[in-house]
Amino acid sequence: SESTPASILDLVPVVPVVVIDDLDHAVPLARALVAGGLPVIELTLRTPVALDAVRAIADEVPEITLGVGTVCTPAQAEQAAVAGAGFLVSPGTTPALLEAMLGTGLPFLPGTATVSEVLAVLEAGVTEMKFFPAEASGGAAYLKSLASPLAAARFCPTGGITATSAPSYLSLPNVGCVGGSWLTPPDALAAGDWGRVESLAREAAGLG
Ligand code: 3PG
Repeated sequence: SESTPASILDLVPVVPVVVIDDLDHAVPLARALVAGGLPVIELTLRTPVALDAVRAIADEVPEITLGVGTVCTPAQAEQAAVAGAGFLVSPGTTPALLEAMLGTGLPFLPGTATVSEVLAVLEAGVTEMKFFPAEASGGAAYLKSLASPLAAARFCPTGGITATSAPSYLSLPNVGCVGGSWLTPPDALAAGDWGRVESLAREAAGLG
């Protein structure tokens, strides 16, 4: 993506977390999200075609801010950057992964789920992060508890969040946006039902 915003957390209320099984789905899916008012995507490195999908979206849908997620190794951070990622997201954080993501020069959201992990990320000078897996790790109540002691940290909670539970997160002072896969149901992708994706995106865009 050609745009590098000041803060990934402030672009849209809901970042679509996407698993692409069929490379042909990448571009129409990205276009449907943009049409629905969500010009941001977190494309996960969970399938063999994921990096090709990143390249296709970077080439053909430059108006979307293209995140690459499920970055679990330093090598994946580098591969995602080379493929055209506009930002990176990891499910958790290790010192090597943090160093590799910093080394790309891209914005990134390192994954955290505990107070000590948040402190480690803050020590590295990074104040915006993912909270994962959000629902299983304590949900909105947990993040609310971090707001006062860890006031410097801002979060994108992801994992088990739905259109129904998203507002409870979005109302917190330390949450900029949430992430979720509910906008891109596997059956809609399999059917090429981009209108359904667009309408789910439009509904989510309205949560902000
Ligand atoms: C992620 O990587 O953030 C999660 O897999 C997305 O979680 P969800 O599928 O529960 O929305």
